[in-house]
Amino acid sequence: MLNCIFHHCKTHFFIIVNIFRLILFFIFISFYSKTFANDINFNSTIQKPKSYLSKESAACISCHKERSSGLYQQWGRSKHFGANVGCYECHGTDSKAIDAIRHKDFFISVIVSPKKCSECHSTEVEQFNKSHHAKGVEILGSLDNVLAEVIEGHSTFNGQSPVAVSGCWQCHGSVIKVLPNGTLDPTTWPNTGIGRINPDGSRGACTACHQRHEFSLVQARHPETCGKCHLGPDHPQKEIYDESKHGINFYSQLNRMNLESSKWVAGEDYDAAPTCATCHMSATKELPITHDVGDRISWTLRPAISEKIDAKLSIMGEKVKSWIERRNEMKTVCKACHEDNIIGGFYEQFDNLVSLYNEKFAKPGNELMVALTKNELITNVPFDHKIKFIWFELWHHQGRRARHGASMQAPDYTQWHGYV
Ligand code: HEC
Ligand code: HEC
Ligand code: HEC
Ligand code: HEC
Ligand code: HEC
Ligand code: HEC
Ligand code: HEC
Ligand code: HEC
Repeated sequence: MLNCIFHHCKTHFFIIVNIFRLILFFIFISFYSKTFANDINFNSTIQKPKSYLSKESAACISCHKERSSGLYQQWGRSKHFGANVGCYECHGTDSKAIDAIRHKDFFISVIVSPKKCSECHSTEVEQFNKSHHAKGVEILGSLDNVLAEVIEGHSTFNGQSPVAVSGCWQCHGSVIKVLPNGTLDPTTWPNTGIGRINPDGSRGACTACHQRHEFSLVQARHPETCGKCHLGPDHPQKEIYDESKHGINFYSQLNRMNLESSKWVAGEDYDAAPTCATCHMSATKELPITHDVGDRISWTLRPAISEKIDAKLSIMGEKVKSWIERRNEMKTVCKACHEDNIIGGFYEQFDNLVSLYNEKFAKPGNELMVALTKNELITNVPFDHKIKFIWFELWHHQGRRARHGASMQAPDYTQWHGYV
């Protein structure tokens, strides 16, 4: 009797197990076909997941699981964990690398540069390398730099200005220096500035947007990610976004943004609002994700006088993507939620504001400054006369704010923080 009941249970058990297997099989198939479809549509270069964690990474974890439990948990939540991409796959290095340190039985680098990421994510790295982000470190000769090095600062930190180290470089990037014992010079690291120059010669820090060790797409798609750098008096994109209708909808409908979804196309996977990533980076129905944030921009709003983004390079005879192509790509984003008339109308408003700024303020202001210098009424030394501060405030602060406000729909920045 007992045996029979037991037998009965066993049959039930097997039926349940088989149903369970079937369900798992379907989940697997749907997941697989989704990933596969993604690969075709969006040209992802992500390598196939590894089936086992390497023995090197298992060794790292044997110590770091306890020692760095927070870091270990972050990694444990990442897709890398699921794909068996462990500590050693990212931190492992050649013994001859400039920043190689001997660590227990291994050679490792603390810095995991874009060159390392490109072993598995080459498309993203190639696009990033073409972008203005990768040039972020090229500010040393700029007028702004005189502020950090001379006016506000002094070379008291291993020959560097503490203002540059903790200010400019944290956004733009440092030139990383390795000390003779293989550790990183503290004037140059910690630093995840966007155009950082790494010991292996590669540019940038993917961690500027993909925070370790979770590398979460939810976090990367969030406007706060860009807001670390894109804010403040001279480029308040974050504040502009927050007060725009897009920002309003984003914060009020956050639970409908579907930020966790692996595929994330406006109009298909979410519709509440676009984020910075949506407009400048994410895939549209027609276009793949881009890691060149200049791909969809037609004007450059940074210099004293705005020009079309391809103007300089075209004059030099270089073949670059035209501003019209870039603008059309941006329009494919808008089209997920708007019709042609409102998009066209928006661009007319924006173009007219930039032209007014150029003609009424920037060009005459620039001519005045050139004339003053030519007639030796002012010197060539930066910031040694009040008028130089006034001119700097005019184009670098108010002038940029007005243009940025108009480019992303924040009337207060265009008017009261801008034109006035
Ligand atoms: C036997 C224990 C142990 C093993 C195995 C181990 N670590 Fe560590 N790790 C430590 C300790 C202790 C520290 C802090 C002191 C130091 O730097 O030695 C550390 C520090 C680090 C640092 C920071 C170093 C710095 O200079 O800032 C990194 C990165 C690191 N480990 C990565 C790894 C990786 C990757 C592996 C596997 C290849 C690994 N660890 C294996 C114990 C270990
Ligand atoms: C997908 C690649 C990747 C994996 C996997 C990875 N790391 Fe990192 N790790 C990074 C990046 C990127 C940085 C940032 C360093 C920089 O570029 O400034 C970093 C920084 C670190 C640092 C120094 C900074 C800090 O916060 O202390 C330690 C220590 C470290 N990792 C340990 C580990 C350990 C231990 C593991 C395994 C559990 C691991 N990492 C797995 C990419 C990775
Ligand atoms: C050894 C190969 C390897 C290296 C090195 C590597 N990755 Fe990955 N990465 C993967 C794989 C595989 C996946 C996909 C996992 C999946 O979809 O299940 C992935 C996924 C990602 C994702 C998407 C996460 C998500 O939620 O979909 C990001 C972002 C990412 N990696 C960034 C980086 C960055 C930044 C670096 C360098 C600091 C890096 N990876 C280094 C293999 C790697
Ligand atoms: C909070 C982050 C942050 C800090 C700090 C910062 N910048 Fe910037 N900087 C940016 C961003 C973001 C841009 C691009 C703005 C845009 O495109 O509208 C930029 C633009 C520039 C440009 C224009 C580059 C070009 O291609 O036209 C220069 C030059 C510059 N910064 C120099 C500096 C210097 C020098 C310092 C320190 C005195 C500094 N920045 C501090 C974030 C920062
Ligand atoms: C300016 C911020 C930024 C920087 C810098 C950045 N990423 Fe991304 N990355 C993003 C955003 C945002 C997404 C999510 C796009 C989406 O799914 O809509 C993303 C997505 C990804 C993905 C997933 C792609 C896919 O098809 O799902 C990978 C892999 C990745 N990035 C790797 C990198 C690597 C490697 C670097 C360094 C060269 C890097 N990223 C630098 C913002 C950035
Ligand atoms: C760590 C700082 C940092 C972060 C984070 C960052 N940026 Fe930037 N970004 C910069 C700097 C610096 C520049 C200007 C580089 C220069 O001109 O030299 C810039 C320039 C740009 C430009 C102008 C590109 C061009 O070709 O003119 C766009 C657009 C942009 N960023 C968008 C974004 C978006 C969207 C994000 C978030 C997904 C983001 N950035 C995150 C620092 C950052
Ligand atoms: C609705 C789409 C949209 C959103 C959301 C958006 N942008 Fe923009 N952004 C634009 C457009 C359109 C322009 C102007 C493009 C042109 O010149 O044709 C622009 C211009 C820029 C520029 C170029 C400025 C320069 O100085 O040349 C930067 C930098 C930028 N955006 C960053 C951001 C950041 C950071 C966020 C989020 C805080 C953001 N954008 C949100 C559409 C958007
Ligand atoms: C994911 C959907 C989405 C995308 C993509 C998007 N928008 Fe919007 N947009 C909205 C929503 C929602 C509103 C708020 C509508 C309202 O005011 O009732 C809005 C408002 C606007 C407004 C203000 C309209 C008004 O009546 O005040 C303008 C202008 C605008 N968007 C332009 C753009 C441009 C240009 C792009 C592309 C660069 C774009 N949008 C991309 C969803 C989107």
